[in-house]
Amino acid sequence: MHAVGIVAAAGSGLRPGAELPKALVLLGGRPLVCWAVESLRAGGVAEVVVAVPAPQRPAFTAVLPDDVHVVVGGDTRTASVRAALAAAREHAGDPGPTAVLVHDAARPLTPPNVVARVLAALAAGALAVVPVLPVVDTTVVVDDDGVVIADVPRASLRRVQTPQGFDRATLVAAYGRVHGTAAEFTDDASVVRAAGVPVHTVAGDERAAKITVASDLLAAEREVAS
Ligand code: CTP
Ligand code: MG
Repeated sequence: MHAVGIVAAAGSGLRPGAELPKALVLLGGRPLVCWAVESLRAGGVAEVVVAVPAPQRPAFTAVLPDDVHVVVGGDTRTASVRAALAAAREHAGDPGPTAVLVHDAARPLTPPNVVARVLAALAAGALAVVPVLPVVDTTVVVDDDGVVIADVPRASLRRVQTPQGFDRATLVAAYGRVHGTAAEFTDDASVVRAAGVPVHTVAGDERAAKITVASDLLAAEREVAS
């Protein structure tokens, strides 16, 4: 299966105290974005497009491998993926990739096996597939004052990770239906689901956790060192 990888790295998320977008923050001496590109490649995706913030484009180009295509992202994650998707089409050779895997730069330690499972589900015919994990904590709904107002049965709940895999034409068509910055979509599976496409699941991995706060980075540093 010919798949192109898209890495969303255009967020401005600043590590407390650092003047760097999160994707350029170092983990084990390498920027997070480089880890994310490497795990896509190790899992079987050779061609990769990375969406980056405009002001730091030179900094990203300097650290990424030469054969990675760098594009400027947008104000929302959806806008960044849309820009990368357009670039993937322009730069694809004939007949071009049949699948797209969209990954977060903020998930540096995603095991290649997760990538491989997503690719396998696409090869088996899924049009959209996401890696997921169960919810193990008791989960509740609270009101505006933080008072619990309902329990949520957790057996059917899942936490969704990346990379998320799609039939390329299906993803392009779904993105064609959403307009503006589409800030309401926090991932790509929700964009295709809004177009009525069934989204399948494969097993995710705790190591694919997203780095959001400083303590996540410390945990990742420990994982790399071990
Ligand atoms: N992202 C992007 N373009 C945006 C916003 C986010 O490509 N306009 C990317 C981020 O670079 C990140 C992924 O989407 O790899 C997930 O986003 P998130 O974890 O929210 O990262 P940031 O937006 O950078 O951080 P924060 O929301 O904490 O400021
Ligand atoms: Mg964000």
